[in-house]
This record gives sequence, structure tokens and C-alpha cells, in this order.
Amino acid sequence: MPNTFSHVPVMPAEVLEALQVHPDGVYLDGTFGRGGHAREVLAKLGANGRLLLMDRDPSAIAQARDLFGTDARVRIRHASFAELADWPETAQGLDGVFFDLGMSSPQIDDPARGFSFQADGPLDMRMDPGSGSSAAEWLAAAPEAAIADVLWRYGEERLSRRIAKAIVGQRAERPLRSTAELAALVARTIGYRERHKHPATRTFQALRIHVNDELGALETGLQGALARLKPGGRLVVISFHSLEDRVVKRFIRGQDVQPASRRNLPPLDAPPSPLAALDKRFPGDAELASNPRARSAVLRVAEKRS
Ligand SMILES: C[S@@+](CC[C@H](N)C(=O)[O-])C[C@H]1O[C@@H](n2cnc3c(N)ncnc32)[C@H](O)[C@@H]1O
Repeated sequence: MPNTFSHVPVMPAEVLEALQVHPDGVYLDGTFGRGGHAREVLAKLGANGRLLLMDRDPSAIAQARDLFGTDARVRIRHASFAELADWPETAQGLDGVFFDLGMSSPQIDDPARGFSFQADGPLDMRMDPGSGSSAAEWLAAAPEAAIADVLWRYGEERLSRRIAKAIVGQRAERPLRSTAELAALVARTIGYRERHKHPATRTFQALRIHVNDELGALETGLQGALARLKPGGRLVVISFHSLEDRVVKRFIRGQDVQPASRRNLPPLDAPPSPLAALDKRFPGDAELASNPRARSAVLRVAEKRS
């Protein structure tokens, strides 16, 4: 896997300000990617500070080892951030936890990873190609109703049933193997309805979220972060779509512990959230002009109460 693809970090100054890095602190970057944010945190740490790095993508971890493997302040682990509380290095408590969700530019830009409908590649979509089922494997066996449900829930695709039916019809003749095949099938099935948006955009988003259990990992990772943060420690999360941001917002407000029927209402007789919401930021115009992938980013900052 080449490490030549690069990734421009989103809102780096805002992330650094939000984490309030102090030289002797212990920080965890759960989504190392290509290390744009990690590098900035490291520059603020003294000799006694610690930076714990995780990513579920082996190519990101290879990059982390190349860049920081010999730095005595750094610890590196190839795992989902859902497992952060199981990592003994976090047991000492954390002054800050950072998640920069979604995909890195190298993942999107490398057709071999199978995330893109713009360049043909194997229909994979796993952030960790060594674990779980690829999108092709899942689509080859899943019931039609389950495919429609995933497209509806994670892609907010109104024509989910029609697309699921077409996928099941196609696989009876020959299983879908490539991103171009799936993109063409969706385009044939629902046509070009939105200007400037490929008809398969929602389908690809939905499959990616499902294949990587992104929302499940996020919920578990947030719980792990809360368990390991020290009082006064900072939680900083960048989301790239509303499904993720909703999970983060509810978690910070403590609403995830409410029954589903009350999820959009203020908590009833519940203890206050263990986190205090501090800030919500969006990229500025200058950043958006130079980095179009920052477009849908939302940064949320919270602090663990004492
Ligand atoms: C937007 S990129 C991070 C970019 C990074 N902040 C930088 O500046 O280079 C997202 C990264 O998070 C990783 N990732 C996504 N979900 C993850 C999870 N549950 N656990 C660990 N890593 C995850 C992806 O593999 C990807 O490398």
C-alpha cells in the first residue's frame, strides 16, 4: 500500500485550541490517518508528555510507525478506537481524546480500497481490509430487505427498496465485484436526479458506514473516551455527516442514556451529563476554498466534569 497519498488535516488550529495541549499531558488521537493533527499535538508536548495513536487502517499505522515509531513519547496501536479503553496505555487516564471521523484522502483516492465510484476498483470499502466482510461479500448474501434498510438508514436514500431489488436481481446472474459495476447499476436503476451528485453517492455512503459499523464504533469509542478521560479532560470530535454528528451531540448531552422515546427531549430526572458541551465550530471560508474535503465538517468540543 503506497503511503504517497496525502491528507490535509481539517481545522488543525481549532483542534489544537480545543485540546488545550499541555506539555506533560496524555492525549489520544483515535484516527491517525496521515498524522496531520498528531504532528501538531506532538509539537506541543514536552519530554514527559504522551501521545497515543490508533487507526483501524493498517496503512495509516504503517505511516505512524514510519513517522513517529522512534519517538519515546508516542505509543501506536492498530485497532478501532472502539477498543481504546481496553488498551492498557489509556489506563493512566487521558487529558484529551480526538476523533477525526470518516475517511482519509488516501483511502478515498486509492481505487484499490473500493470506496470510490469515480474510479473503478474492487468493491471492498473496509477501513481494515484484514477484518470483517467486504461490501461485495455482504451484498452477495444479504437479504433484500436488509440491503434496503442499510441504504435507507445510513444513506437516507429514498429509493432504497428499488436499488436493493436491482442488486438482488443482478447478483442472481453475476455477483457485483467492482465499484464501477455498482455505480452503473444504481445509475441505471434510479437515474440522475440531483445536479452535481452522482446517483450512487448515498448508496456508497450507506455501504461504507455499514461495512465498517461506523456508528456502532463511534458510540463505543465515545463511551471508552469518557471512561478514560480525567476530570477536566477534553473530548474533541470532527464529524462529516449528520448521522455521525447526531451521535456525538447526543452523547455529549447525555441523551444516549435516555429511553428512545425521549431522545429528542430534555432529560427527565436524569443526572446531568458527565460532559459539559463547550463549543461547536465549522471550517472558515479560507479553509473551505483551499480544502474542499472540509466542506461538511463539524467540530464539537466537550469537557469531562469533575
Ligand atoms: C479523516 S481521517 C483522519 C485524518 C487525520 N486526522 C490526519 O490529519 O491525517 C480518518 C481516519 O480514521 C480512521 N478511522 C475511521 N474510523 C475508525 C475507528 N473506528 N477506529 C480507528 N480508526 C478509524 C480511518 O481509517 C482514517 O485513517
